[in-house]
Amino acid sequence: MFSLSGTLMLCLPGALLAAAQVEFHKDVTPVLRKHCQGCHRPGEPAPFSMLTYKDTRPWAKAIRAAVVARKMPPWFANPAHGEFQNDSRLNDKEIETITKWVDTGAVEGDPAKAPKALAFDQGWRIGKPDLIVEIPADFPIPKDGVVDYTWFAADMKLTEDKWIEKLQVIPGSREHVHHALIFARAPGSKFRPTLQPGGVTSRPEIRPEKLPPQSDKGSFAIGVGLGAAEMIGDYVPNGDPYIAEPGQGRFVKAGSHMLFQMHYTPNGKPATDRTRVGIVFAKTPPTERVINDAVINTTLRIPPGEPNHPVTALVTVPRDTKIGAFGPHMHLRGKAMRVELLRAGQDPKVLLDVPAYDFNWQLKYQPKDWVTVRKGDQLRVTAWYDNSPNNRYNPDPKREVPWGDQSTDEMLFAFFDYVIPAQP
Ligand code: HEC
Repeated sequence: MFSLSGTLMLCLPGALLAAAQVEFHKDVTPVLRKHCQGCHRPGEPAPFSMLTYKDTRPWAKAIRAAVVARKMPPWFANPAHGEFQNDSRLNDKEIETITKWVDTGAVEGDPAKAPKALAFDQGWRIGKPDLIVEIPADFPIPKDGVVDYTWFAADMKLTEDKWIEKLQVIPGSREHVHHALIFARAPGSKFRPTLQPGGVTSRPEIRPEKLPPQSDKGSFAIGVGLGAAEMIGDYVPNGDPYIAEPGQGRFVKAGSHMLFQMHYTPNGKPATDRTRVGIVFAKTPPTERVINDAVINTTLRIPPGEPNHPVTALVTVPRDTKIGAFGPHMHLRGKAMRVELLRAGQDPKVLLDVPAYDFNWQLKYQPKDWVTVRKGDQLRVTAWYDNSPNNRYNPDPKREVPWGDQSTDEMLFAFFDYVIPAQP
C-alpha cells in the first residue's frame, strides 16, 4: 500500500499532486459550513460539533460513512422525482472531497486557508416580530427517557383577523427540541378541544372508539371548508423561518389559539424549554392565501408482524390551485411514503417519493416550482408501514395498529401547502 501510493505520487505531475491533497480548513470546512454546521455545533441537537478540526477529526470515519450512505444531512426525498428548493443533499463533488480527506489521513492543513466562520444568528431572522407567543410555562425536559409529543396552547390575543407574512420558531432549549409544529386554531374549532390556553398535555386525543371500516378513500384534514386548525409554522434544527412569497400570506382569525406540538429529545442533561413563536403581519392583505392542509386516511389498520403494509388515501382536488410544500407524517412504524398526482388521461406523476421515512425527522419538501393542480385531479398518497420485529422502533410487533395520535398508534398524514384567492 505504502509503496504503491509512493510510486503513484512519484509519477504524478505537480498540479495533480496538489489537487489530490485534501485538507480540512481549505477543502472540507466549506462543505461542513454549507451542509453540517447548522446542526453540528454546540447547543444544537446533533451529537458532536464540526466547528473546529479538533472536534471534527475523531468523527472522520463516521462522517464519511454518513455522507456516502447519504444519511446526512437528513433528507429523504428520492431525487428521481421532483426538484426541491430546500434540497440539502451534498453533490457528488462534495462527497468526494470528504471521502478523499478521510482516506488520505484527515489532515488539518493551514488554518489560514479556512473560509470566514459563519455567524449563527439565534435571534429573530424575520425582523422585529409584531407578535410573540410562547408556550405557557417552562417545560421540564427530563435527563433521559422518551418524552411523548407534548402539546401546549396559548391565546394569540388577536382582536382582529390577520395575515401572516413571516413566522419564526425559536426553541427555548435548542439542543432538546427536535421539532415543533405550530397550529392556529380558529374559534369554534373542534381540534384538540380539551387543550385550552395555558394548558399542556401529551395525552392522545385522536383515537377512534370504534374502528371505522378500512377504505382507500382518503380525506382532507382541514378541507377546503377550512376553519379547523391549520399548521402555520414549523421548526426543525437548522430550519428556515416561514417567509411568504410576494403576494401570499397565511390567514389567522381573531380570537385564535396557538397550539404547539413539541418533540423533545432527552440527551443526558435536564433542561427547561420555553419555545417562542414570532410573527410579522402583512401590512396589506395579500392576493393569495396559503393554506396548510393534509391528505389523511384514518381507517388504516396495520396487521401484526407485517413488514411492508401499504395504505392509500385517494382524494379529489376540489379547485384549481397549486401546491408549494409537502410534509410526510407517520409514526414509529412509518417506512415509506409517496404522493402522486392523477389526472384523467395521463400517467400518474410522482410529486414526492420518500423511500426511507424516518420518524425522527419531520421534514418539509418544497418543490422548486409550485405544482399546478386542477379541479378534478386526484392526489394519491401511499404509505408503507413496517410492523415487524425487524423495525427497531417498533414498540409492539404483535399488535394490530389503528389510527391514533400517540406514536405507538399510526397515522397517514401528508401535509401540503396550497393557495386560494385571499378574497374569495
Ligand atoms: C438538520 C440538522 C443536521 C444536519 C444539517 C446534519 N446533521 Fe448530522 N446529525 C444530526 C442529528 C440530530 C444527529 C443525531 C442522529 C439523528 O437524530 O438522526 C446527527 C448524527 C450525525 C452523525 C452520527 C451518525 C451515526 O450513525 O450515529 C454523523 C457522522 C453526522 N451526523 C454527520 C453529518 C454530516 C457530515 C453533515 C453534513 C454533511 C451533517 N451531519 C448534517 C443533525 C444534522
